[in-house]
Amino acid sequence: MNQEKVGKFIAELRKENHLTQQELADKLEITDKAVSKWENGRCLPDVYFLKSLSDLFHVTVKEILNGERDFKKKVIDEDHHRKVLEVNKLSKSFGKRKVLDNINFEIYEGDIIGLIGPNGAGKTTLIKTLLNLYKSEEGNVKICGYDTKKDLENALSKIGCIIENPDMYDHLTGRKNLKITELINNIHDKEYVEEMIRFVKLEDRIHDKVKKYSLGMKQRLAIANALIKKPKLLILDEPTNGLDPSGIRELRQILKTISTTKNMSILISSHILSEIENICDRVLIMDQGKLISNFGIEEVKYKNKSLEEEFFRKTESFESGDINENS
Ligand SMILES: Nc1ncnc2c1ncn2[C@@H]1O[C@H](COP(=O)(O)OP(=O)(O)OP(=O)(O)O)[C@@H](O)[C@H]1O
Ligand SMILES: [Mg+2]
Repeated sequence: MNQEKVGKFIAELRKENHLTQQELADKLEITDKAVSKWENGRCLPDVYFLKSLSDLFHVTVKEILNGERDFKKKVIDEDHHRKVLEVNKLSKSFGKRKVLDNINFEIYEGDIIGLIGPNGAGKTTLIKTLLNLYKSEEGNVKICGYDTKKDLENALSKIGCIIENPDMYDHLTGRKNLKITELINNIHDKEYVEEMIRFVKLEDRIHDKVKKYSLGMKQRLAIANALIKKPKLLILDEPTNGLDPSGIRELRQILKTISTTKNMSILISSHILSEIENICDRVLIMDQGKLISNFGIEEVKYKNKSLEEEFFRKTESFESGDINENS
């Protein structure tokens, strides 16, 4: 890897996008000195910023590190761009109330998808139905090609999830909690487990009982617990609930690193739209049990709008009957 070439490429991308060094620095929440260091070839952006640059300039991390665009990549990408999740015509009712109404969408390898919608829209129900915790009356779900109605065990082996509050044994240590997951899932890669403990920065507290953990520590343990299964898809239902600003920032960095370095897709539901805007490539909006919109975050940025503006525009027109689902 040629640092100078990488730097020239970053400068080229920045100019193509009509940004000054200061403007790029502001977008990445860093100083213009750091941008200047990259561009002069004095240092390389770390993984977190490589992913941010890749999102911002529509190039892959590999292209940035090669210092040039790979014009053959489209063909290769299409070959390798596999579906991790397929949801077809999914419907679910509680009594007479239809809570999921003909939901259709797909998630591909490496995607980070945000799931947003008002309280009661059906997000948690959708997630639980994907995992077969709730039975759907209609439609089907495939996880890495495995149909959850026909081959649940294989389908679930590809998923790591945290729904609502992290579900851990409080009276056991963090390490023992992970041990239980290792035993249940036949995990023998001890080094990887240790790596995940370090990855979520719990190495100093892993031998403490979980009841002594703060909420943020419990969240991080739950993430490590989900990751040790090496899932293809990580599902998180409101993971930032109750976290303080630094907890939210740490989680954001963990998620971005996961998607770039661990080749994992992420489906994350949240009410914090700025976070979703910051982390995700694509956004699904649900309202009253329907998927009313499915769009790339770049489309919003291109229109110079915030996700919050887009969210209110879509939900208000849906609720007033002006738009149909998926418009
Ligand atoms: N176990 C249940 N039995 C009956 N109704 C339920 C059940 N779980 C959820 N519901 C109903 O399904 C609808 C969708 O709820 P859900 O929890 O999926 O919404 P949500 O989008 O996750 O909301 P929030 O943002 O508040 O978490 C609501 O009307 C809720 O009352
Ligand atoms: Mg919910």
